[in-house]
Amino acid sequence: MFASRQISSIAKRAFSTSASSNAAKVAVLGASGGIGQPLSLLLKQSKLISHLSLYDIVNTPGVAADLSHINSNSKVTGHIPDNDGIKEALVGCDIVVIPAGVPRKPGMTRDDLFNTNASIVRDLASACAEYCPKAHILVIANPVNSTVPIVAEVFKKAGVYDAKRLFGVTTLDVVRASRFVSEVKKVTTEEANITVIGGHSGVTIVPLLSQSGFKFTEDEVKALTKRIQFGGDEVVTAKNGTGSATLSMAFAGARFTNSLLEAVVSGKKGIVEPTFVESPVFEKDVQFFATNVELGPNGVEKIHPVGKINQFEQGLIDAAIPELKNNIAKGKAFVNKA
Ligand code: NAD
Ligand code: LMR
Repeated sequence: MFASRQISSIAKRAFSTSASSNAAKVAVLGASGGIGQPLSLLLKQSKLISHLSLYDIVNTPGVAADLSHINSNSKVTGHIPDNDGIKEALVGCDIVVIPAGVPRKPGMTRDDLFNTNASIVRDLASACAEYCPKAHILVIANPVNSTVPIVAEVFKKAGVYDAKRLFGVTTLDVVRASRFVSEVKKVTTEEANITVIGGHSGVTIVPLLSQSGFKFTEDEVKALTKRIQFGGDEVVTAKNGTGSATLSMAFAGARFTNSLLEAVVSGKKGIVEPTFVESPVFEKDVQFFATNVELGPNGVEKIHPVGKINQFEQGLIDAAIPELKNNIAKGKAFVNKA
């Protein structure tokens, strides 16, 4: 089979003497969209990417031509489904970022996107399993609590699943938490480093404000927790039917991808990002859970425990688990139904 003959492009380039020898091929699937375009723009600035491969069902030739004029050293290619475009986009990839799928409109939950996005993610995952089975897969498409299990099941069926290389991107929750707390406490965002665990939807988003080092009143804790859990709705409402967070998501997606590149390509140690991964933390109840995760050359290096929390936060976790359990089961059942 084609996939089994593939050698990681980083490994191949390790023997090269070119200036960009130590750099990765990164694909963005859904690259023409609201997230895909600014995310690709941010990734074009990375010195750790040698080839930025853009795939979408429409418009990637134009997006790629535009980005390719930026004078950073990476090559940019655009692919659409014609002429084996998905294969061209994925072969040799080290990292694949997936923002493909429809966004919410006011009044919808992320789970309401399942019917459309589950099959988009399943089919893209299937192509990844065939053409770049060793790539790290970063899932942005909602509902993340279900789309990550979908990718896992597709990879399992293809016999190429590696739990250490599959990530649900929950970075936007951490970015928001940092910003919102910095506003309330009148500190810089660097000082407001907030751990957010759980999943990526409403009550499954669990900020651990008690671990931040700041003192909050009870009202502040309630208001901040609600705002972090429902920050996505704030943007969906403000965009008034034209979509959900795109620019802040591109920022968050680039932050996570760059952190992974530092760990995978540069071999930097001690890089920690929150992310929704297959996790032992609540394994009796849920297979996937986001906590801080140390990244390494093979993806997940070390999954951090939840740490010390208070009673309020324990209540948030207790509320998150049943919903997460349902979301995960729904994703798995979708792949295994046939
Ligand atoms: P968008 O509609 O602007 O862009 C989606 C893109 O996906 C489009 O260009 C579309 O052509 C493409 N696409 C659709 N089907 C495809 C397929 N089969 N193959 C390749 N590309 C395909 O939407 P957006 O605002 O960019 O949001 C994308 C997804 O990201 C949504 O599901 C949204 O809910 C999710 N999202 C997640 C987070 C997060 O924190 N994880 C944050 C914001 C948005
Ligand atoms: C977000 O948190 O902004 C995203 O998940 C998009 C959404 O639907 O809210």
